[in-house]
Amino acid sequence: MSRRLRCCLLVIFLPIALCLDFQERSTYHGGTQTGAAAIRTWEIGRAVGERSGVEELHASPRHQVRERSIAGDGDRERDACKALRGYEAVLANNTHNYVFNDLSGSVSLAWVGDDTGVVLALTTFQVPFFMVKFGQSKLYRSTNYGKTFQDVTNLINNTFILTEFGIAIGPQNSGKVILTADVSGYQRARLFRSVDFGNSFSHADLPFQPLSQVSYSPHNTDVLLVISLTNDLWLSEDFGGKWRRIHKSVCQTRWGTEGTIFFTTSLNTSCSERGRLELRKTTDFGETFKTIGTKIFSFGLGGRFIFASVMTGRGSLRAIHVSVDQGEVWNMAQLPPVGHEQFYSILASNDDMVFMHVDEPGDTGYGTIYVSDDRGTVYSKSLERHLYTTTGGDTDFTNITSLRGVYMTSVLAEDNSVQTVITFDRGGEWRLLQKPRGSKCDATAKNKDVCSLHVHASYSMTMKLNVPTLPLSEPNAVGLILAHGSVGDGISVMTPDVYVSDDGGYSWLWALRGPHHYAILDSGGLLVAVEHTPSRPIHQIKFSTDEGQCWHVYNFTQEPLFFTGLASEPGAHSMNVSIWGYQEVMLTRYWVSITIDFGQLFTRDCDEKDYVQWLAHSDDISNPDDGCMLGYKEKFLRLRKDSVCLNGRDYVVNKQPTPCRCTLDDFLCDFGYYRQENSSECLEQPDLQGHILQFCLHGRKEQLQTSGYRKIPGDKCEAGIMPERKMIDLSVKCVSNLLESELLGERQPYSPVTIVAAVVVVMLMSAVAGVLFVKKYVCGGRFLVHRYSVLRQHAEAGGAEGLDELDNQGAESGKRDYHDDSDEDLLE
Ligand SMILES: *[C@@H]1O[C@H](CO)[C@@H](O)[C@H](O)[C@H]1NC(C)=O
Ligand SMILES: *[C@@H]1O[C@H](CO)[C@@H](O)[C@H](O)[C@H]1NC(C)=O
Ligand SMILES: *[C@@H]1O[C@H](CO)[C@@H](O)[C@H](O)[C@H]1NC(C)=O
Ligand SMILES: *[C@@H]1O[C@H](CO)[C@@H](O)[C@H](O)[C@H]1NC(C)=O
Ligand SMILES: *[C@@H]1O[C@H](CO)[C@@H](O)[C@H](O)[C@H]1NC(C)=O
Ligand SMILES: *[C@@H]1O[C@H](CO)[C@@H](O)[C@H](O)[C@H]1NC(C)=O
Ligand SMILES: *[C@@H]1O[C@H](CO)[C@@H](O)[C@H](O)[C@H]1NC(C)=O
Repeated sequence: MSRRLRCCLLVIFLPIALCLDFQERSTYHGGTQTGAAAIRTWEIGRAVGERSGVEELHASPRHQVRERSIAGDGDRERDACKALRGYEAVLANNTHNYVFNDLSGSVSLAWVGDDTGVVLALTTFQVPFFMVKFGQSKLYRSTNYGKTFQDVTNLINNTFILTEFGIAIGPQNSGKVILTADVSGYQRARLFRSVDFGNSFSHADLPFQPLSQVSYSPHNTDVLLVISLTNDLWLSEDFGGKWRRIHKSVCQTRWGTEGTIFFTTSLNTSCSERGRLELRKTTDFGETFKTIGTKIFSFGLGGRFIFASVMTGRGSLRAIHVSVDQGEVWNMAQLPPVGHEQFYSILASNDDMVFMHVDEPGDTGYGTIYVSDDRGTVYSKSLERHLYTTTGGDTDFTNITSLRGVYMTSVLAEDNSVQTVITFDRGGEWRLLQKPRGSKCDATAKNKDVCSLHVHASYSMTMKLNVPTLPLSEPNAVGLILAHGSVGDGISVMTPDVYVSDDGGYSWLWALRGPHHYAILDSGGLLVAVEHTPSRPIHQIKFSTDEGQCWHVYNFTQEPLFFTGLASEPGAHSMNVSIWGYQEVMLTRYWVSITIDFGQLFTRDCDEKDYVQWLAHSDDISNPDDGCMLGYKEKFLRLRKDSVCLNGRDYVVNKQPTPCRCTLDDFLCDFGYYRQENSSECLEQPDLQGHILQFCLHGRKEQLQTSGYRKIPGDKCEAGIMPERKMIDLSVKCVSNLLESELLGERQPYSPVTIVAAVVVVMLMSAVAGVLFVKKYVCGGRFLVHRYSVLRQHAEAGGAEGLDELDNQGAESGKRDYHDDSDEDLLE
């Protein structure tokens, strides 16, 4: 917050000395088609002196690269582009300029509802004055996708809205909006609530000071939850009218399914006493509570799983526990326990599985990705040396939402370079990205002909490289990915270019020179990009109707503006895109939004002839075994590249799934089994040969009879190979977690029960260890690098040390503004 306040001071008193560097602080992530709640905030950035140019990722000599040459091929392809004629006049007729009579330091945008065209813009400025914040807010509302706005500041009675709490949009197209206001002098907060898409607001005073934004129940948008500054948990059942305090000393809270509220509480300690918290839940909005865990370090929800990191009682080690039944039964996850300086993080999770990052001991800046089975308890090693800074909580892990099973992230190579890797089978195997067609390797490459594409994501942004946006993909723009990258042996610190993939990351194409802001419109039928030039005003937008091969330029204004952000309705269905920025007239600056409606550019709707069949994960559509991924293959109808037509708002992805026959690749290696490199067969681990495999799951001892294979969760293959596998209930009770003993009051540290548990733990650990050197799924990917090395951290001191990012939302929104809509967020 402090930086923001300083900036605002600058706005008011030093308008000339201000650097012209606006900063996009928040981007909408993921394309929930129903939620449609997206909030963006832009504000005036750092002052001139503070702006650091390109910083080195790390000081290794290979990064002292010279100017990299750009492949000539891209230019050649561009020359081959057919000129699109006459679009300037059409677009000029559909360009809408809106100038705000407003000098405020920051503006937040929110789309309200799906396909309503309602956009709220909140501008604020704040002045810190002896610990008291003074500020002013203005609210604008558009009902035509941002083409024109109406000043509706009177609806909020000119009250100062707290920008850091943002605009809270209700989930599921509910039309609900909440703004949190500061009533100065009263030490109280006021909510402005709308139930009609921001058309009218009513206010309600809070009997407490909120610590964070209110959070909507995903199942009933009338029910709201918020933690107060004094760590009380408050609940309202009438959309913020009446509030009651339902619990004291609450540290962290999340909505579960069906109105369940989960929270951690620090009874006689403080929330900073991690590892001594209690995990509780209430299913009746706070009438009754149930303690479902003690010695909790942190907890999180993802998919249908609840995760908690629990102190093991052995020194400062903690271990992940998982529940799939709302916290009634817990099982210890078979992951290595971590010490106080390490952390766990849920990278992504859905109902089938979770990607879990486990930090290495020591300040290495990397860890290991494990993928879970469908119970969330059994994990296999997926990727080693996965880059994840300890301090900043930065990881490049990205779910490529435009193609099933594809994820991309970065590893820290032996020589300290950062390299991008991609998996097409949900973590089974990771490989380097293909070199874009016709591109040349840059100076980071040892061999001028053999190198790969490396993609800039969160890590590069934290390192303040010249990367304005994260990689972008949308579920309805099948196969499309836009990203900044460089071609070499590792991520280069030189100015990146924009690359596009149209097949989910298998192949890449050089698209645009230099950094750009980009957006996907019309379900992938239209791409738009604006050059990122912080010090120069802009007047051009580029667009492509053929998935990034050819780009056309449109001069959208006579009066260039300093660009701050590109905004389009979330979900990538829209054809309207807004360019936000500011203009300066006689040393005063005001906000400008220019909205271009590309709809008129296309003279016709797409018909059958405009679509071609495309088989995902395949380069040979005629081969019956090609394209199988997790037991089935999918054919899509995709827009032909040379078709210039309108998919339209109602476009739905045409997907034809067909099951595949099972092969050994549809199975994980079971406990005690492993795969040799390049082989699909599971071999029995020598050290476990002849052992009877017994496990303690759900408090019962079970014996496993296996031929070494276990079907991959979510795999839909049919017939074919069906290896046998049985779990036999031995009807013996056992302890499968470290939570129960505490709850049952068994506090003797060496009770027989705990010893049994410890034995199970040790055995399972060794099973995990045995998996270390094997291939495919359980059996890990190709190990990119084995040696240990230390990342030179550019991190600020006193970062979030040892904090588990179990909360998927936390992990996702690390650098983004608080943004809460629904559970869909954490499924991302
Ligand atoms: C632009 O709009 C004007 C008036 O609405 C119309 O006369 C003109 O034909 C339009 N131009 C194009 C290229 O659509
Ligand atoms: C605005 O303020 C006036 C008087 O101060 C009050 O009567 C009115 O209810 C307020 N309206 C809102 C929406 O807060
Ligand atoms: C908290 O403190 C109260 C009294 O101060 C005591 O009765 C209670 O047992 C303590 N609870 C825990 C969990 O230590
Ligand atoms: C990745 O994104 C896709 C599409 O949005 C989603 O279906 C899938 O569940 C996500 N995967 C994970 C592990 O979150
Ligand atoms: C757009 O602007 C560029 C210069 O920035 C200029 O060269 C070009 O002629 C303009 N195009 C049109 C159609 O006005
Ligand atoms: C673009 O905005 C106009 C209203 O200005 C709206 O009628 C149209 O449906 C929008 N187009 C899309 C594809 O959202
Ligand atoms: C596995 O296959 C890769 C490429 O196909 C090859 O480079 C490697 O040597 C193989 N490994 C073994 C152990 O055969």
